[in-house]
Amino acid sequence: MISITSIQDLRRQIAQERLKSHSIGFVPTMGALHKGHISLIKEAKKHNQTCIASIFVNPLQFNNVEDFNKYPIQNEKDIQLLKDAGCDYLFLPSVAEFYPATPKLSIHIGPLDRILEGAHRPGHFSGVAIVVSKLFHMVMPDKAYFGQKDLQQVAVINQLVNELDFPIEIITCPIIREESGLAMSSRNMRLSAAGKTVAANIFLCLEFLEKALKNGIGTPVQPIQKMGMDFLNQFEGIRVEYLEIVQADTLQTITHLEPGSNVAVCVAAYVEEVRLIDNLVIIL
Ligand code: PAJ
Repeated sequence: MISITSIQDLRRQIAQERLKSHSIGFVPTMGALHKGHISLIKEAKKHNQTCIASIFVNPLQFNNVEDFNKYPIQNEKDIQLLKDAGCDYLFLPSVAEFYPATPKLSIHIGPLDRILEGAHRPGHFSGVAIVVSKLFHMVMPDKAYFGQKDLQQVAVINQLVNELDFPIEIITCPIIREESGLAMSSRNMRLSAAGKTVAANIFLCLEFLEKALKNGIGTPVQPIQKMGMDFLNQFEGIRVEYLEIVQADTLQTITHLEPGSNVAVCVAAYVEEVRLIDNLVIIL
């Protein structure tokens, strides 16, 4: 695997790959890699001749400075994991290289930014849209791989690609979980063993709601949403920020459970002051 830190070198290497008519699969990350990230690399490698990963902790998308400062960095370990997964190139720019000046631009996402993560993390998706747009211009991949773990991020990226005509296919990959059901996340490193055990109840709640939703087809959503809140609130170590049952593609709220519809249960909750998100998409 070749590690690249400058944009100019990245463009040069990509031009070489294009001369060989190699298709390029791209996996953007913020590092502190785990099996969730590696599943995206393996998928990109399987369907493209060249796989490029990026590691860049994007200051623009952190609405909380402390969260940015505490973001785990483990480049040596990440490089080994990427090599083992068969990644061909790693783009690892510094903040000075990537943003020679702080961008004055912001991107207005529209309705998607007023719900769930957008509502609770002002400016987050504008920061994501800017970093991903820049990365797409630099890498110019055929396909880019994102995890369903960040369901709303996928919706934002799809909107970005459609509305700005990026000639890139967006592939969504399933959530990789610990055996306990806890969705893998770089933030889990900040949890104690006890914290991880408590946090696994978030997935149990999603499974509990899946059954309740399937049994509740044709009924209002609100009582089932309340059952989910009550489920999580029984654990002292979990502080729920939101638990919403929404339409799975638009992520907009629904009032009734229509047969045949796709719904998503989306949760954000704090465990030991670590903010965790998870979701489950359910076909009714
Ligand atoms: P990061 O949180 O590092 O995640 C990188 C990619 O890995 C995202 O597409 C995310 O959805 C996916 N991912 C994380 N945990 C996963 C899991 N348990 N199973 C499957 N996929 C998982 O998301 C970002 O970085 C940033 O916002 C980024 C897109 C890189 C822009 O800065």
